[in-house]
Amino acid sequence: MTTSTSTICPTGTSEMHLSPQPVGKLSIRNATKIYDPDGVNVLALDNCSMEVEAGEFCVIVGPSGCGKTTLLNAIAGFHDITSGDIFLDDELLCSGTKQAEPGADRIVVFQHGALFPWYTVLENVTFGPLVQGKMSASAAKKEAEEILAQMGLKGISHSYPSEISSGMRRRVEIARAMMNNPKVLLMDEPYRAMDALTKTIMHKNLLDVYDQSRKTIFFITHDLEEAIFLGTRVYVMTTRPGTIKKVIDVDLPRPRDYKILSSDRYLELKQEVIESVHEEAKKAFEAGEREMA
Ligand SMILES: Nc1ncnc2c1ncn2[C@@H]1O[C@H](COP(=O)(O)OP(=O)(O)O)[C@@H](O)[C@H]1O
Ligand SMILES: [Mg+2]
Repeated sequence: MTTSTSTICPTGTSEMHLSPQPVGKLSIRNATKIYDPDGVNVLALDNCSMEVEAGEFCVIVGPSGCGKTTLLNAIAGFHDITSGDIFLDDELLCSGTKQAEPGADRIVVFQHGALFPWYTVLENVTFGPLVQGKMSASAAKKEAEEILAQMGLKGISHSYPSEISSGMRRRVEIARAMMNNPKVLLMDEPYRAMDALTKTIMHKNLLDVYDQSRKTIFFITHDLEEAIFLGTRVYVMTTRPGTIKKVIDVDLPRPRDYKILSSDRYLELKQEVIESVHEEAKKAFEAGEREMA
């Protein structure tokens, strides 16, 4: 794990090469979600279907309020869907009103961070496997320190979250997620509030994690450039009720480098995503204006 060729793959398998058979295939079939606060029906998702391949970096974009978080929360098991099915590696996660069980196979990296402030970085990162009794304390410590070092976070194990920068905290969260060896990382606008420079560091770090682990990443963003720079596929959602409007294959080479931002293909893809999202954003805006009238 300490060499640059090792892979981020915890629980004692850190020297393994990429698995020949990646896991983490997500099949979303006709997912519909109706919220009914105070008896008023809000149709958030309407027969939304998508197939995310195992090991795919899937990026979801779409107008505000179109149902992106609703979809992620259903996969995470934070709430049910009203009808439809979601499968993980062909096993039913949730169906109709049967809510998915939250599990260590799907780890959510929250937008506002969720580290325990009273624990050190090391205690935060080892928390999951220790609580689940999956690893001994010494094995967890060793693994955590290797992952932290690989993520450029060497030497902060004994710091508290309040003592490190927000960018570091976000990387610690990813390290903590990787300790659980999940099948899928679920990320809801994780870099939303960050300045441009910190974002570039976050991108590089996440791309390294992805290239080394080939975990399925389900990533929501409103930043269309970020979507193309990171993703293998970009899924554009319609305005609410959300469904998938367009799937764009991002056929840019990996490992990704900032040089691609000036390539013709990147600019072409960016244009395609912008046009598709703006069309939906315009519809959302007009619908809002009609409601106000
Ligand atoms: N708990 C809830 N109760 C009622 N309506 C909700 C709830 N959560 C989200 N919604 C509504 O569902 C729609 C989709 O929300 P959300 O999934 O958060 O959108 P996005 O993440 O794309 O911005 C929005 O109209 C939102 O107001
Ligand atoms: Mg959201």
